[in-house]
Amino acid sequence: MKIMVIAGSPTAISRTRGVAQFAAEALRKLDVEVLYFDVGIDQLPLFTGDASEANDETVKKLLSYAEAADGFFVTTPEYHSGMSGALKNALDFLGSKYFKNKPSAMAVAAGGGKGGMNAMNNLRTVLRGLYSLVLADQYIADPVMFDEGKELTDELAKTRVNELTNQLVEMAALLNQNKVKN
Ligand SMILES: Cc1cc2nc3c(=O)[nH]c(=O)nc-3n(C[C@H](O)[C@H](O)[C@H](O)COP(=O)(O)O)c2cc1C
Repeated sequence: MKIMVIAGSPTAISRTRGVAQFAAEALRKLDVEVLYFDVGIDQLPLFTGDASEANDETVKKLLSYAEAADGFFVTTPEYHSGMSGALKNALDFLGSKYFKNKPSAMAVAAGGGKGGMNAMNNLRTVLRGLYSLVLADQYIADPVMFDEGKELTDELAKTRVNELTNQLVEMAALLNQNKVKN
């Protein structure tokens, strides 16, 4: 099974990446092949809809990973009550053919003080728009759940991300088993 993990923050040192990397490692422990795409490292051009963008190497990587994936683990920071612009730009390159009948799990890195839910709901709406089957469960990580290197260290946070990866793999396996052959 292949799962695409998307780290959705543009920053060089990022808590969102801490969540994405923890999720990627948890998925590898479940024998999943992880297709890791980090919008802060795999920097995409601004989506313009121009066909020439399909020749960009990073766009090609994004599309090939999304096509091969059986499911998605998508992470984003909350920026001004929404997902990051960098993540939305990446998702704008994709369409429902990449997501239809595939599950997604979501996790958000927020600023604390009850932040994060707006980005979560924003991301859920966009993934629904892409026809992904978004898991009901979801997770918001506050800054206290990371160490100074922005690694996810809080035990409860790690348990919750593990639960999400387990549910994602279970759902992807169920959907794979029942795929209609054309
Ligand atoms: C431009 C900007 C806007 C932000 N807006 C919010 C917000 O609306 N709600 C919130 O909880 N945190 C907000 N934060 C805090 C970030 O969500 C938090 O620091 C998060 O861990 C950043 O993730 P990153 O390090 O992966 O970029 C904002 C941070 C920035 C830089």
